[in-house]
This record gives sequence, C-alpha cells and structure tokens, in this order.
Amino acid sequence: MGLLGAELWFGLYWILTQSCRWNLTFRQTFKDRLSQRFENELPGVDIFVTTADPIIEPPMMVMNTVLSVMAYDYPTEKISVYLSDDGGSELTYYALLEAAEFAKQWIPYCKKYSVEPRSPVAYFVSIATDAVGVDDKKANDLAVIKKSYKDMETKIENAVKLGHIPEKVRSKQKGFSQWDSHLSKRDHDTYLQVVIDGRDPKAIDVEGLVLPTLVYLAREKRPQYHHNFKAGSMNALIRVSSNISNGKVILNVDCDMYSNNSMAIRDALCCLMDEEKGHEVAFIQFPQNFENLTKNELYISFMRTISEVELHALDGFDGPFYVGSGCFHRRDTLCGRKFTKGCKSDMKWEISRKREETTIHELEEDSKVLANCAYEQNTEWGKEMGLKYGCAIEDVFTGLSIQCRGWRSVYLNPTRKAFLGVAPTTLLQMLVQQKRWSEGSFQILLSRHNPAFSDQISLGQKLGYAYVGAWSMNFLPTLFYTVIPSLYLLKGISLFPRVSSPWIIPFAYVIIAKYTGSFLEFLWAGGSALGWWNDQRMWLYKRSSSYIFSFIDTILYLLGYSDSAFVITAKTSDEDESQRYEKEIMEFGASSPLFSVLASLAVLNLYCFAGFVKEAISLGSKGGIAEVYDTMALQILLCGILILINLPLYQALYLRKDKGKLPGSIALKSMAFGVFGLTCFNFSY
Ligand SMILES: *[C@@H]1O[C@H](CO)[C@@H](O)[C@H](O)[C@H]1NC(C)=O
Ligand SMILES: *[C@@H]1O[C@H](CO)[C@@H](O)[C@H](O)[C@H]1NC(C)=O
Ligand SMILES: *[C@@H]1O[C@H](CO)[C@@H](O)[C@H](O)[C@H]1NC(C)=O
Ligand SMILES: *[C@@H]1O[C@H](CO)[C@@H](O)[C@H](O)[C@H]1NC(C)=O
Repeated sequence: MGLLGAELWFGLYWILTQSCRWNLTFRQTFKDRLSQRFENELPGVDIFVTTADPIIEPPMMVMNTVLSVMAYDYPTEKISVYLSDDGGSELTYYALLEAAEFAKQWIPYCKKYSVEPRSPVAYFVSIATDAVGVDDKKANDLAVIKKSYKDMETKIENAVKLGHIPEKVRSKQKGFSQWDSHLSKRDHDTYLQVVIDGRDPKAIDVEGLVLPTLVYLAREKRPQYHHNFKAGSMNALIRVSSNISNGKVILNVDCDMYSNNSMAIRDALCCLMDEEKGHEVAFIQFPQNFENLTKNELYISFMRTISEVELHALDGFDGPFYVGSGCFHRRDTLCGRKFTKGCKSDMKWEISRKREETTIHELEEDSKVLANCAYEQNTEWGKEMGLKYGCAIEDVFTGLSIQCRGWRSVYLNPTRKAFLGVAPTTLLQMLVQQKRWSEGSFQILLSRHNPAFSDQISLGQKLGYAYVGAWSMNFLPTLFYTVIPSLYLLKGISLFPRVSSPWIIPFAYVIIAKYTGSFLEFLWAGGSALGWWNDQRMWLYKRSSSYIFSFIDTILYLLGYSDSAFVITAKTSDEDESQRYEKEIMEFGASSPLFSVLASLAVLNLYCFAGFVKEAISLGSKGGIAEVYDTMALQILLCGILILINLPLYQALYLRKDKGKLPGSIALKSMAFGVFGLTCFNFSY
C-alpha cells in the first residue's frame, strides 16, 4: 500500500512538472530600436546591492559587484547605486569610499575600451587568458588601471585584516562619525551617506564626465524590532531611494552577483517599454548563473533545468516567479499598484523639482527616518507594499502577490549571461539553501496566499507554483521508495512484478521513458552526461535530507513552535576546500543532522545489498539463482543504483582521510542506525 501511494504521488507530481515543460518561450531583444525611439527619455534606474556580513561576504567581492553595476552602458546621470549593508559595518562603508574613488578611473576606462565584463576582477582574469593587444597606449592604460585597483585592494584588505578603520583615515572622513554611537550589529542607528551625488557638478570622473549616484545605507537595527532579513533591507532601500533618486526601475542584485553584460539594463527596458505589451509587465527576471562552476556541476546541476527549461516554460504562462537577484522591477508595481486595463505607465525620465531644491546634507537627514525601525509600524510595508515579510523565500512570495494584482512577468535569458554569482561549493551549503527554498515555497502553499485561490493567475502558473510548493512533500514517498524495497530484497520478498510477466511493461516504460527524457533534456540544456548523474544524486539528497527538515519545520512553524531563520550561505572557502571543489570531490566535513540522515540511509542500503549478495551466492551454488533474478530484478536494480549513486558518500565515510570526509561520529551513528533498522525490520517481519 505504501509503495502504491508513493507511485500515485510520483505520477501526480509528474503532471505538475509538465506545467514547467509545456510552452517554452524564448525572447530576443532589439536594443538598437530601443535607442532609436527612446534614448533621450530612458527612465532612471536604481540598483540595489544587498550585503549582510563583511566576514562571510568579503568587501572586495561586494565592491566588484558595485563597480560592475556602476559601469553599465547607460546614461550615467540616470543610474543610482545603493548598497545596503545589513552588517552595519564600517569596513564595508570604508570599502565603498575607496571603490567610489576607483570608479572615477574605472568607468571612463570601461567606456573607452568597451570593457566586458565590467567587474574589475573578472575583467583582469579574462584578459589574463586572452593575449593582450600590442597597442602601446592600451597596454599602458591597462597597467595604470591595474595598479589603481591593486592599491584599492591593498587598502581594503588591510583594513579588513586589522578589523577596524585606521584613525588617520577615520578623521579625514566625517561619514565615520555616524559609528560613534554604534553598539552592535543588531543595535545601531541608521547610517546613510550619499557617497557620490550625481547632481553635484564636482562629482566627475577623470575625463570630466558625470558619475552615477552612489549611496551607502545601513538601516536602523534594534533588538526589540524584527529586522525581516533581506526583505526588510529591500524595503528600506525602496523608501530611501524614492527620496533620493526615485528611479522608475529598480534592479536588485545580490552582493556576489556581478553584471557580466553592460547592456543588461537595455535588455530589460526593451521588455518594459515595449509599446504593445510592455505596460502589462511588472518585472523581468534574469536567471541566476554562476561563475565558478566545475565541468560537471557537482552540486547545483539542477539549476540548469530550472533556468534553461522551467522558467522559460512559465514565461509562456504569463510569467516566471520572482526568484531574487537579477530582477528588474517597476517601482510602482513593487509598491503595490494594481494592474488596470488600458492604463499605460509612464516611464519617462524626470528630475523631481523638490530634489533640486534641497542640499545633499538635508536630504540625507530627511531620508534617514525612512530607514528607521519604527517607520514601518502600522503601515502596509511588508504586506501590500514592497517585499512581503513572513516567508523564507520573500522574493517568490512577493512575485506571487504582484502577479495576483494582475501583472505579468517576463523571463530573459540571453546566451551571454547577464549576472554571474558564486555557486555553493560544499554539499552542506547546497542542502541548507535547498531547505530554505523548499520551506518557503511550502509555506506559500499552505498559507492563505495559495495561488490556487487567485483568479488573476493562469492555470499553468498555478501548477508551476504547486510544483515548487510541493517540493518538500516529496520526502515521504522518496524515503519509502529508497528504504522499503531494499529491506524486502534482503528478506527475499518480491514487491514488483516478475520480469517474465507482462506487468513489468508499465514499470519498464516509466523507468526508460522518464530517464531518457530527463537525460536528453539535461544535455539539451547544455549539461554534461556526468552532470546529469550528479543531478540525480542531488535529487535524492535534497529529498532525503533538506526536504524532511523543511517539511517538519514548516509544520512546527504553523503550529507556532519555532521561528524560521534566514541563514546566509558562506561565499568563501579555504584553500584545501576549493582544491577539492575544483577536482569535484564531494565536500562533507561538517557534522550536520542533514548528513546523518543521508549516511544512515546509504548504510542501510549497503547492508541490504551486501546481505542479498551473500544470499545470492549461496543460492547460486544450489542452482536457484535464475528464479531470484526473475522475481527480484527491479529491487536489485533499485538497490544497486542507490549504492552507485551513494559511492561518494561511502568514500567519505570509510575511505577518505582529508578534512572533507564525514566525521567519525556520523559514521558511528549511521552504522548504529543501519543495525537498528534491520533489527526492527526483522522483528516486525
Ligand atoms: C524625503 O523624506 C522626507 C521625510 O519623509 C520628506 O519630508 C521629504 O520631502 C522627502 N524629500 C523628497 C525629495 O522626496
Ligand atoms: C570559485 O570561487 C571561489 C571564491 O571566489 C574561488 O576561490 C575559486 O577559485 C573559484 N573556483 C572556480 C572553479 O572558479
Ligand atoms: C505559449 O506562449 C506564448 C508566448 O508567450 C503565448 O502567446 C501562448 O498563448 C502560450 N500558449 C499557451 C497554450 O498558453
Ligand atoms: C560573460 O561575459 C563574457 C564577455 O565579457 C563572455 O565571454 C562570457 O561568455 C560571459 N559568461 C557567461 C557565462 O555567459
């Protein structure tokens, strides 16, 4: 009965996944036509970069992202970059000051030589591999810019190493005085500083051209107010920016996702300013791509199917989810505007009169209030305005509510990737991230915001939301299917039809069709064969660890027992770890309940298979083996594949000696669990 239930679930779930295969839509933009029609009236764009911790997210990485978005190929006076520092760290502020200084050389350099990509570090790496041109002037300029970059890097890294800002530097910049009242990361005032004011005639680069506006913001934090993680900081940014630059379009990037294409803003505007359909579009999502992937994408090969297939399909059904980093929003729809037929939204560039009349210092003082904790009390912020609170994946939740207000969204995935970030480089990072994703989407499914109840959302989209919402529910059927057939294999009890019976046909069909399909799809999406195999492993690991915990946590949360917490995933790793990553050796290394579950299941399967082999050998000598294969073929196949897929785990348990192996305590626990499981099973059997 259990197996039948699992099979029914898999069948139903397969139908849901088809909504993400049905109507793939691919888009192409014509940027020259955009310039022809609108070059002088292009809207202002406010770019939000969010960072949370100077240790986990090193300031140099953040600054490279900031510089890459400051250097977009777009009228500079219309770009404003806001860095939200939830760590409230002087170091990040200092790094931003240095980056602003460097930008004065970097931006003209980018424009002069049409540099791509415009993140300095990525650019220097890319030209190190290309042969540099022999042009003397160019080589000279490159040497100069490289030296300035190195100087900036040394200054920032020294400050980071020191852990605070040298007194000499501090006294020169009055902005640092804001930190005089600093109590701790979770208890401080709003720090707001317009580092470069684009309206100031003195804010020019080395060629005498205007610079984009650059703003540092650390919103107020107080222990008695919940800060609502990234959604909270985004909302503070939306308010503060509306006061300072009030761009009609908002782009949000995570601090590790630099812009790899200086034309990306224009790509997005092609969709927003399209005369026929543009006024229906609320946001444009770009895929999240990663820079440091290894060839076979050990951990996140599943992102390939999501960004190359599933989001394209949702685009055919009125639009993809808002999945966070790399998304362009209209400001007014993000702030709660409803879609009304025939209403064209005005995207034209304009400078607010009020803004012109205030000095920058007054503006800073005025705007600080907007980032204070108490500001949101008794307002619609976090509910109908801005990003929504109370969900582990605030972005998808917000995107859903925008779609419920009648808007559609667009997915743009040009061949040259627009944003590149840092991929998780350990298994634990990946599993923790998956736990958060599945937990958040399950919360949405169980909440009163469940898309099934909305009449604004198309059926395809509803199925799409249901498909991700039900991620975590997969854990139970998957566990059943990985444990029960193996145990019965050991006992010699057959659970599936005989090979010689016609009832094997549906099973054989499903296995062959499903896996051929997914294999071909993966290759089509640009992956490698081994990458697909890794994807199958992650499929299993997600379901038999992250999803269990996210399911339980969500249920407990609904019953009021625990609070969901946002875990930032580390974006740095030590030397050994990155070497193993590059060799695609799976990284365990930590002691986590997620690993205990995985190891226990793997060990149980190993016991069962070993027991079966022993039995089969003794039967073989007696001549009954053909009968065993006939009745047990599918169970042998299933258990055998589980063993193959778990090979890296057995190595980490028993063979490896490096730091990335599984700790001894987990080896013991999993062994004990295996023995315990078998004993219980024997007893009940
Ligand atoms: C900025 O915000 C303050 C406080 O809400 C307000 O008084 C002021 O008019 C705003 N300035 C602009 C230019 O919107
Ligand atoms: C991935 O990124 C990390 C951190 O930035 C870096 O140390 C590592 O060398 C990168 N690996 C690859 C394969 O690019
Ligand atoms: C498929 O996508 C296209 C392009 O977005 C759309 O015009 C068409 O209506 C979609 N078809 C279905 C069946 O939804
Ligand atoms: C990033 O941009 C460069 C050009 O600057 C391009 O060669 C490269 O293919 C892009 N990366 C990806 C992953 O698309």
